[in-house]
Amino acid sequence: MALFKDMLSSDESLFKNELALDYSFLPKILPHREKQQRYIATCIKPLMNEKNGKNLFIYGAPGIGKTAAMRFVLNELEEETEDVIPIYINCWQKNTTFKIVVDICEQLGYKLTHNKRTEELFQVVKNILNKKAAVFAFDEVDKLEEIDFLYSILEDIYKKSILMVTNDKVWLDDLDDRVKSRSLPEILEFKPYNLEETRDVLKQRVQYSFVLGVWNDDAFELIVKKTFEVEDIRIGLHLMRESGNIAEEKSSRKITLEHAKEAITKIDQFTIKKSSDLTEDEQKILDMIKKNSDKKIGDLYNIYKEQDGSLVYKSFQRKIEKLQKNKFINVKKTSGGPDGNTSIVKYANITKKLTEF
Ligand SMILES: Nc1ncnc2c1ncn2[C@@H]1O[C@H](COP(=O)(O)OP(=O)(O)OP(=O)(O)O)[C@@H](O)[C@H]1O
Ligand SMILES: [Mg+2]
Repeated sequence: MALFKDMLSSDESLFKNELALDYSFLPKILPHREKQQRYIATCIKPLMNEKNGKNLFIYGAPGIGKTAAMRFVLNELEEETEDVIPIYINCWQKNTTFKIVVDICEQLGYKLTHNKRTEELFQVVKNILNKKAAVFAFDEVDKLEEIDFLYSILEDIYKKSILMVTNDKVWLDDLDDRVKSRSLPEILEFKPYNLEETRDVLKQRVQYSFVLGVWNDDAFELIVKKTFEVEDIRIGLHLMRESGNIAEEKSSRKITLEHAKEAITKIDQFTIKKSSDLTEDEQKILDMIKKNSDKKIGDLYNIYKEQDGSLVYKSFQRKIEKLQKNKFINVKKTSGGPDGNTSIVKYANITKKLTEF
């Protein structure tokens, strides 16, 4: 009997290069972000002509190519010239002035950072960079705990562009006035991809990561549709990998609609939504909202206070805004009801949104 003929054998795989599904994988072309890449490049370009660069504030929802587009431009810059030094910092990992200065030293190849003070290290950075020009890319900039290094860079590095990237549009409004007035950044918004764009981005990743022809069209289309609905390419990458794994577990030579549906049903929003990026405070507020969904923001704040929460109302409100931007929660503004204007806060269940077929 040819029972096993149509089955995947144990030494075969549906994946050609699974690493290409990693969130940090940078493809050779980034479709549908050409305009944004050009804008970033325009801000940097004057540095190549020994002029000062422009600063840029980039914002937009999670998983829509901000980091990818910026890294792409920095890579191109590195290939193009040695006179402008690109420095990329993830401010979630490096959130203090000291950590950032050490990181910059390391990127510049200066290794003697041990036992040195921030000021000494900054002097080293200054000496190296002021012989050339530099682009500083501060990704996830809202995660910073200190910003005085920004002030130092603005004051003491002569030729530079500072790029700041975040999900949090209002971060800039709250920035220290001394930094704000010195940086005066241009502003670039990344909007979510439409359905066709989402399809193109995911199609490119399929070509990188899967053996040709293993995806059934209807299965791929379902992943595209779901990714478009939640407006986050990371979810699409996660679902594609899961679908592939499920198909392999079943020794299938094809990834079918059933496999894609199963991947979607299995999804856990916290595996993708980077909830580990939340501070302890934010995580606590999110847990509280999960237990008390559909409540008015004022009532939530009271519960928060009863649980010994220490933030003042204004800061609490800001945390709520952040959770909303990151799609952990939904906030609906109501007006004219018995309570006047208020906001109703709801726990956003991405899993639910995904699994409604
Ligand atoms: N236009 C695109 N072409 C190819 N891949 C893309 C594109 N846009 C996004 N991606 C991929 O989607 C994933 C998420 O993108 P990225 O990390 O740039 O998101 P982000 O906007 O920086 O999100 P966050 O705000 O959460 O940091 C990455 O793996 C990235 O390579
Ligand atoms: Mg990013």
